[in-house]
Amino acid sequence: MRNKSTLLNVFLAAIIVVLVYQVSNQKIPAPKVQSANGSSYVSLGDTVASEKRSLGPKSYIMPKPALVIGSYGNDGTPNIMTAAWAGIVNSDPLSVGVSIRASRKSYENIMATKAFTINVPSASYVAEMDYVGTVSGYDEDKFKKLGLTAVKGSHVDAPYIGEFPLVIECEVTEAIDLGSHTQFIGRIIDTKVDEHLIKQNGHIDIEQMQPVIFSHEYYYGYGQRLAKPSDIYKVFKDDMEPDMPATRYANSTLSSIYNRKSVRHYTSRVVSKGQLNELLRAGMAAPTAMDKRPWAFVVVQERALLDSLAAALPYGKMLYQATAAIVVCGDLNKTLDGEVQQYWIQDCSAATQNILLAAESMGLGAVWTGVYPRQARIETVTGLLNIPESAIPLNVIAVGYPTGEDQPKDKWDETTIHWEKW
Ligand SMILES: Cc1cc2nc3c(=O)[nH]c(=O)nc-3n(C[C@H](O)[C@H](O)[C@H](O)COP(=O)(O)O)c2cc1C
Repeated sequence: MRNKSTLLNVFLAAIIVVLVYQVSNQKIPAPKVQSANGSSYVSLGDTVASEKRSLGPKSYIMPKPALVIGSYGNDGTPNIMTAAWAGIVNSDPLSVGVSIRASRKSYENIMATKAFTINVPSASYVAEMDYVGTVSGYDEDKFKKLGLTAVKGSHVDAPYIGEFPLVIECEVTEAIDLGSHTQFIGRIIDTKVDEHLIKQNGHIDIEQMQPVIFSHEYYYGYGQRLAKPSDIYKVFKDDMEPDMPATRYANSTLSSIYNRKSVRHYTSRVVSKGQLNELLRAGMAAPTAMDKRPWAFVVVQERALLDSLAAALPYGKMLYQATAAIVVCGDLNKTLDGEVQQYWIQDCSAATQNILLAAESMGLGAVWTGVYPRQARIETVTGLLNIPESAIPLNVIAVGYPTGEDQPKDKWDETTIHWEKW
């Protein structure tokens, strides 16, 4: 009898141990997301409740904006400084809060004028943004130094940066001394955005605008599109499904692939040499047969040459607007021999596609127009650009800043797929 009850106790204890183990290891259920092809799968983030280490008080709200605050000095000199301690603080009246140390020139300016602008930089202005966050207006005219255009606000007594894509004019309603910083509460009077960044649905095209994110160690560019507000929550509703599948955009490489489009409309903004070098680096990262890299690139930035290419190529009219072009050539001195010589076409096509995808990922727009194998076009391009006989131009890639008119297409077509055998 005693043996029996001991056995029962051991059995019950074992069950309790198993149950406690299971409960303590239970994971927070991961949201199910509907994929484009209808299958359901898990995709959003870390789903395990992990141990935390305490770091004490830190300013690790992530991400933080990297904004540039514009103000006038008492002699009318425009000044700009970077601020990350900033954000929307009220809806009605629509207001922002920007915290600024009393030691800043901007503090002195804003205290006097009771006005400031918020200038949202695009990624291409990250160096300027960092500069104005390091050097003080007490020591230098930062607008002059950086060659930026100070435009007088149309509603408040503060300048904005003509080159930045998004500016917000604010009138100070309160200045709250918080200790190290004074928080200026600014009522938003007006918001101005570059025309080409306004999408047809009235929203700002943030992917094209490429705002900067501040995260202590680094500045980051705008990330992947994950999901749609007031939509993705539906994954937790039994009777609802999100309109926008999250999958396609939860990965920056796929995002560039799916968002790439042939861009034929450009603004007048010039693509820099640094950006063109980045595109070329991306092109040269393509795989090639036997690692031969049988390519050469002619980069064209001269207006007259771009116009000549536009006039000469039947499908090259976008080159009149483009501010640069990359001509991808096969270098016959570097190809394989014999039957496989033609692999240069695949190799250079892979480089071309890399360039197109890199352009998309950098907020640029590009499109390629074919040259090889059309003899007349080969002769025209060869003649215009001094290409030697040992090289063949495969295509011309027009590059520029997109106006936003060109949109990606969804080309998914199940009828083109043959599983296992055709
Ligand atoms: C990324 C970044 C964020 C910054 N955020 C703030 C901020 O929120 N408040 C502040 O007072 N200073 C901030 N600073 C520092 C000022 O921008 C910097 O001291 C600047 O030189 C001040 O310029 P001024 O004296 O011309 O006003 C930041 C600097 C950087 C680089």
